[in-house]
Amino acid sequence: MEIDKAESGIPLHKLEKQILSVLREKDGLNFAEIGAKAQIKVDQVRRAIEWLKTKGLVTEQTIKEGIIELLETGKGASRNGLPERRLHNFLRERGGKVQLNEITSKVLSSDEASAALGIARGSKWIEIKKENGHTFVHLRGELSPTPEEELISTLSSPRRLSTLTNKERIAYTSLARRPGFVLEVTSKEVKIKLTKGGQSILIEEGDEINVTAPPPMIYSGRKHPLQSFMDEVKEIFVSLGFEEIVGPLVQSAFWNFDALFTPQDHPAREIQDTFYLRDLKVVSPASPDLLDRVASVHQDGGATGSRGWGYRWNKDLTSRVVMRTHTTAVTVRYLADKMPEEARVFSVGRVFRNEKVTFKNLVEFHQIEGITVGSRVTLRDIMGLLTRFYERLGMKKVKFWPSFFPYTEPSLQSMVYNEKFSKWVELCGMGIFRPEVTRPLGVKNPVLAWGGGLERLVMLRYGLDDARYLYENDLEWLRGVPLCP
Ligand code: PHE
Repeated sequence: MEIDKAESGIPLHKLEKQILSVLREKDGLNFAEIGAKAQIKVDQVRRAIEWLKTKGLVTEQTIKEGIIELLETGKGASRNGLPERRLHNFLRERGGKVQLNEITSKVLSSDEASAALGIARGSKWIEIKKENGHTFVHLRGELSPTPEEELISTLSSPRRLSTLTNKERIAYTSLARRPGFVLEVTSKEVKIKLTKGGQSILIEEGDEINVTAPPPMIYSGRKHPLQSFMDEVKEIFVSLGFEEIVGPLVQSAFWNFDALFTPQDHPAREIQDTFYLRDLKVVSPASPDLLDRVASVHQDGGATGSRGWGYRWNKDLTSRVVMRTHTTAVTVRYLADKMPEEARVFSVGRVFRNEKVTFKNLVEFHQIEGITVGSRVTLRDIMGLLTRFYERLGMKKVKFWPSFFPYTEPSLQSMVYNEKFSKWVELCGMGIFRPEVTRPLGVKNPVLAWGGGLERLVMLRYGLDDARYLYENDLEWLRGVPLCP
């Protein structure tokens, strides 16, 4: 299991706590030293150090060091003196003159004798002379205490090379040249050091298990916030008695605009606003009858009592293919198909607009849209319904005021107040479909319609101030979005 590195969140065993406390008093101890200070067995220290290492609280440092110690000959010399010292003392005892072969028979082995004589001659405190066919050794000076002797006297137990003084180092080099006196070995020592985390982690007294520690984060698969919000919106519509309808993303200009009484010279229809699919045309966007009825509504109002737009309607423009600019295209096709006397339907889907992408405008986004058809529905019903709808989403302060759409009369715009940003945010447009829209479709009862962007609502929900963020796939954010805000 991966352990969260949150500083206070790492559970610590009693042994770990003891060791951390010891190291905080003195960092860089070895296992035995820690064991002694914490009064725990060394193999327990080792085990706990392994845990602390995986938690990133301590590190191990292996320190290699040269250690010197006396060998047998060296130990002998530390008890009885170096050969040169014994030679010197022997000469003094004998009044400063002995025969050479007496030295090897009485005090020194022949190896020791040759070393001692070599040194003594080199430092000129003896003289070797032949007299009457015998070789004699004469003492000619004093042998004051030597650096080698001094070093040996400090070596009753092994010493780290790094503790030698300069003088001792020179003595060591010369002693090391003489066989059997000293030995250098390399020792490895493991020291435990606290990491930054180990220095700062909170060591709580008492309980071995910290039940208040935050648990490790588990990132399971989950829906994108936009998708789960869409699901939530659908739930709300369904709970208010609505049924979902769906339709294609690609539509003829007829359904996206003409059937919605949008004049053929309306700016929204220009390529600067709408994506047209180049070189594509639908064979026939609707039945010839419907096309005729829509044509006359546009031209002079037809049978609706309206005066229409007063231009020559061009049928060719209706078969152009567009990426739908609003979900109202889906709504109006539903009305044409079903000609309902009563209905409550909604749709949620993607729409496209040829706009500059900014913090509040995207080229592709989503709309939610709904209609209520019935003989006695009024504008008050949509206002009530939308108030209820926003309320379910947790948005309590709503206001409405007059607006304009080519296909509704009267038309309203709704806004909700956002506490976090302390401002009113524009949401759904709505109204009652004009007779110029419903009559040609064969729908007799009034149709209340509303629709608006989904991303806006999602931004309010999650406190985002840039719509683009929803599509950036910032994993950190996606993982952290609360499931129940
Ligand atoms: N279609 C409108 C838009 O895209 C919203 C709307 C839907 C307005 C239904 C009135 C009725 O903004």
